[in-house]
Amino acid sequence: MAQLWGGRFVKETDQMVYDFNASIRFDKRLFHQDIEGSIAHVTMLARQGILTRQEKDDIVFGLQGIRRDVDNGSLAIDMTCEDIHSFVEAQLIERIGDTGKKLHTGRSRNDQVALDMRLYTRLQVAQTDELLKELLETILSVMEENVETYMPGFTHLQKAQPVTLAHHYGAYFEMFKRDRQRMSDIYKRMNYCPLGAGALAGTTYPLDREYSAKLMGFYGPTLNSMDSVSDRDYLIEFLSALSTVMMHLSRFCEEIIIWNSNEYQFVEIDDAYSTGSSIMPQKKNPDIAELVRGKTGRVYGALMSLLTTMKGIPLAYNKDMQEDKEAAFDAMDTVKDCLTLFTGMVRTMKFRRDRMAASAMKGFTNATDAADYLVNKGVPFRDAHSIIGRLVLYCIGKDTSIEALSLSELQSISDKFEEDIYDAVSLKTCVEKRLTLGAPGPEAMRQVIGQYREYLKGETLRDIMSQAAGDIS
Ligand code: ARG
Repeated sequence: MAQLWGGRFVKETDQMVYDFNASIRFDKRLFHQDIEGSIAHVTMLARQGILTRQEKDDIVFGLQGIRRDVDNGSLAIDMTCEDIHSFVEAQLIERIGDTGKKLHTGRSRNDQVALDMRLYTRLQVAQTDELLKELLETILSVMEENVETYMPGFTHLQKAQPVTLAHHYGAYFEMFKRDRQRMSDIYKRMNYCPLGAGALAGTTYPLDREYSAKLMGFYGPTLNSMDSVSDRDYLIEFLSALSTVMMHLSRFCEEIIIWNSNEYQFVEIDDAYSTGSSIMPQKKNPDIAELVRGKTGRVYGALMSLLTTMKGIPLAYNKDMQEDKEAAFDAMDTVKDCLTLFTGMVRTMKFRRDRMAASAMKGFTNATDAADYLVNKGVPFRDAHSIIGRLVLYCIGKDTSIEALSLSELQSISDKFEEDIYDAVSLKTCVEKRLTLGAPGPEAMRQVIGQYREYLKGETLRDIMSQAAGDIS
């Protein structure tokens, strides 16, 4: 087992202590970031004359070889090493000899792991942004095709007023758009480089931190070495944003589960995204939607875990911070999987437009419009509200709907009703008249859809990252 320390010790570490302390089991996924950070570090060291050009070339050559061999499977990461940093350094020394021992000049594992974790998280932020964008594309396509697909809008899960499928989906478009904005905010705040902070107090070598930061596509270096090695705010922010993504997905899943139920039948989830029952042959269950809803818990858990880990840590680095990884990695993987599967499920889901419209017709979703009709005929709103309340009660007694009553029945409740009431409370009118910006009326909706299309043409974090990409190999 490769160990980076030991000079000061007279006894071997107890095996269980070694295993408990080791992190390679989970930080092996920082391998590429560790190599990238090390190449940037030695490139800077050579530029500053701290290493010779030859030494730098030898180290870079060695590091690239390790990367190539691990990537093509000819070299396995040695799980007896303490962590990924030890593995890379030990490998390097094995390959290029004593020059390899100069890699860690002017660096500590504290700024090294802070850098690796930041590079890794930055990539995850960009990948999550990309997946959110794909989901938004899917949502927008459904919106474009369903500007006139009527369905009931709910409050308290009781039918309230008619809306359209485009409008309902638009609410989710807004949520996932905000999620993307959170990704951008996090990226902007986190994109500073901690390398060069040393263990906690910088180094005595003349490092050029601006240069190594630029090499890795950061805006610049961080400005306080103690904070640099002990800051995990960006990760907390990311986990918080991921929790919000999951909360949105979970709400959407809950609706899809309801819509897919035998009672509603608004949608049919594609066979590819459904599962059967081992005992009940008729079943086709919305397991993917349920699992996404269920996995929300573990992502919230990762956020709580890291917030709790960080709350009592004095400056600067403490080993507690190694606990920033496992739950965070799990949350990152979980959200990416959920976004991918959810997008596929939504893309292939079929809508039962007839069922949606029929449902929107029932349940007095046009009662507000009937009251507004009376207001337009000069009745004060409060009186109109009470008249329509009585009208609804009358309809419930006769098991019918407002538009199914005869004009004389309507007039027995209010003499203000005239022939034009039928058009005023038709589903089409109820929706089309809602023209305020942000409302389901088709004109208002088309305007918003146009803005959404424009928005999706904008650059992604991946675009921004590749423009800023450093020039290290
Ligand atoms: N495995 C450690 C971590 O994840 C790396 C940093 C170790 N630093 C130290 N001073 N022991 O935090």
